Amino acid sequence: MKLLSGKEVSQHVYNLLTDRIETLKKKNIIPGLAVVLVGEDPASKVYVRSKAKRFASLNLFSETLVLPETTSEGELLDLIKRLNKDSKYHGILVQLPLPSHINTDHILDEILPEKDVDGFHPVNLGKLAQGRPQFVACTPKGIMRILDYYDIDLSGKSVVIIGRSNIVGRPMSLLTSLKTQGANATTTICHSGTKNIPEITKMADVIIAAIGVPELIDESYIKEGAIVIDVGMNRVDSPERERGYKLVGDVNQKSIENKVAAITPVPGGVGPMTIAMLVENTVEAAERLSKII
Ligand SMILES: NC(=O)c1ccc[n+]([C@@H]2O[C@H](COP(=O)([O-])OP(=O)(O)OC[C@H]3O[C@@H](n4cnc5c(N)ncnc54)[C@H](OP(=O)(O)O)[C@@H]3O)[C@@H](O)[C@H]2O)c1
Repeated sequence: MKLLSGKEVSQHVYNLLTDRIETLKKKNIIPGLAVVLVGEDPASKVYVRSKAKRFASLNLFSETLVLPETTSEGELLDLIKRLNKDSKYHGILVQLPLPSHINTDHILDEILPEKDVDGFHPVNLGKLAQGRPQFVACTPKGIMRILDYYDIDLSGKSVVIIGRSNIVGRPMSLLTSLKTQGANATTTICHSGTKNIPEITKMADVIIAAIGVPELIDESYIKEGAIVIDVGMNRVDSPERERGYKLVGDVNQKSIENKVAAITPVPGGVGPMTIAMLVENTVEAAERLSKII
């Protein structure tokens, strides 16, 4: 079984970005990202911190704007409007989930599509659906990059995605089925309304699990020699660890390791690629907004 290391691929992405970042710096442009965090969700705080750390390590600019849980939808919309106008931010990211009194769609719709480095704005998702992607959601984009790095061509293959969120499953289904190099797959989406998922996934050459249920996918879902992309990042209790939890995927990796051809580990698989694609999208936003490309 081959481990598809997102950590390794992300390093490759950062190496490739160095020249582009240098070109921007010569024109006094530092790619900048505004990260908006509302509330105290512990997992969100960890994600936001690791994004900020990565930007700092590449000498890029990022600023995290932390707002209290009680922030109103109107206040958050006003902040987004301000960030849209502020030229030091080429990208704007609103960390999800938002508190339940705020309508996430209203907030994401307000971000300028040109600064929507998460690729969640309907204009960007719509462009992807039409086969003319601009900003593509970081996690699905990162998965395509892992497949490309390891020479896994999806053309003609059967891909089954479990999960249909706008963040992962839906854009993943669009990307894998595009008539483009490395994609061109026959894609099926499963979700909580799908009957007998193992019957469907057992036909798949590539399974992409983006469910949010710890270790749901075991050997009964997989055909011999399949490639498995485990998107899941689930915190499960682990009292023996200092922090009290561990991260596991949506796949029971132990149970399938002798059956699959390749798998992305958790951690170190899809996670690092999500951040790498955020950096790449922010660099691209800076290039576009400053008319370099
Ligand atoms: N590695 C990364 O960088 C990264 C990035 C984003 C997300 N993630 C992880 O990926 C996972 C999915 O994230 P998400 O944002 O897409 O989650 P989400 O919005 O909760 O969507 C989950 C999807 O899975 C489906 N589902 C839930 N339970 C199911 C079941 N028992 N059988 C079949 N389908 C089921 C849901 O169906 P319905 O549509 O019917 O509800 C939904 O479409 C989470 O573990 C998340 O932490 C990781």
